[in-house]
Amino acid sequence: MVAASESQSVDQSAFEVERIRRDFPALDQQVYGRPLVYLDSAATSQRPRAVIEAIDRFYTTQNANVHRGVHYLSQLATREFEAARVKTQHFINAPDTHEIIFTRGTTESINLVAHSFGAKFVGEGDEIILTRMEHHANIVPWQMLCERSGASLRVVPINDRGELLLDEYEKMLNPRVKLVGVTHISNALGTVNPVKRMIEMAHRHGIPVLIDGAQSAPHLKIDVQELDCDFYAFSGHKMYGPTGIGVLYGKSQWLNAMPPFMGGGDMIVSVSFEKTVYNTLPHKFEAGTPDIAGAIGLGAAIDYLNGIGLDRIAVYERELLDYATETIGAIPGVRFIGTAREKACALSFLIDDVHSHDIGTILDQEGIAVRGGHHCAQPAMKFFGVPATARASFAFYNTRAEVDALAKAILKVKQVFEV
Ligand SMILES: Cc1ncc(COP(=O)(O)O)c(C=O)c1O
Repeated sequence: MVAASESQSVDQSAFEVERIRRDFPALDQQVYGRPLVYLDSAATSQRPRAVIEAIDRFYTTQNANVHRGVHYLSQLATREFEAARVKTQHFINAPDTHEIIFTRGTTESINLVAHSFGAKFVGEGDEIILTRMEHHANIVPWQMLCERSGASLRVVPINDRGELLLDEYEKMLNPRVKLVGVTHISNALGTVNPVKRMIEMAHRHGIPVLIDGAQSAPHLKIDVQELDCDFYAFSGHKMYGPTGIGVLYGKSQWLNAMPPFMGGGDMIVSVSFEKTVYNTLPHKFEAGTPDIAGAIGLGAAIDYLNGIGLDRIAVYERELLDYATETIGAIPGVRFIGTAREKACALSFLIDDVHSHDIGTILDQEGIAVRGGHHCAQPAMKFFGVPATARASFAFYNTRAEVDALAKAILKVKQVFEV
């Protein structure tokens, strides 16, 4: 286990990846008689033992419903659940604990804003700005809002590298725009977007900004106060925590002004058939029994990440991505989709005209888990004129030796398809 007291200095020699790998039991297995090389962390990461044990401990000794009981276990579960909220607050440097809403994941967080913010602030003739590289989770909820409200979508274009055209973005900002939604890191292209600058630009026009942080929370140190974003959405399962838990950070000024998303228990102060009084933040947006074990597991993932240090993780992963880009890029016939100057964690590629599912299947036989498909980013794929790519995505538990194994397996693909 990596201790929280460990040096936080960015020192590559001190980044003991082999020791870190031992914290992740799922990495230590064979598939088809070969060591597993897990390069699909952008879809979902593996979990360290600390997270698995926190969930086990909750169900073994702490399990009760939260916020409702006077009995010992219920108070214990409530304390642990709320402690996870405080950890999450500090993880992204949110000003207030009540600005942390637990959801099922990034998708639900964005849907919450699209419904609730949309109901209050978006109407006929208004505009929502998104970008060409958004995940479907940051497109479809806004399209649904547009259908309901009569608003329309504007889309920031990208260049051939997969970078946003900020001049075009600037031209789109006008009083009709009610919100900008942009991904911090593209899951399909690996582009790291200049979100701080984009937020500043939007704020000059008084427009709030939602950041899709699904891919950034596991890889970058997030400071929502420094970014000054209005909303930040992310998922537990992509940052070494459990599935079924996610976070919406929102500035109090917006969350207080927004109506509830779902109705039910916990989100009310009192209910009568004549009038219901809604609860304060964060409970107003957390109807029903939450994923208590999930939140506690997320808290354990945050402790684990803090123990290593996001700054060190970002440097190690950057170096690994550079190595992968160089190694895989040197193979004749490999073409990268997404070559932005600022990139993180994901390498999307094609090999001549081999279908991405065939690439994925042959790599799988070699024990290498990558993703083949459109990565829920069909508009970005369409821009590059491809239906799909193969994507290797990296985490701090991956190694150069695994990149070498990927390169070797790509040669196998070329051999099989004679390209
Ligand atoms: C950029 C981005 N946004 C949103 C999502 C949706 O996340 P979830 O399925 O955890 O809600 C993903 C998942 O891959 C993603 O990569």
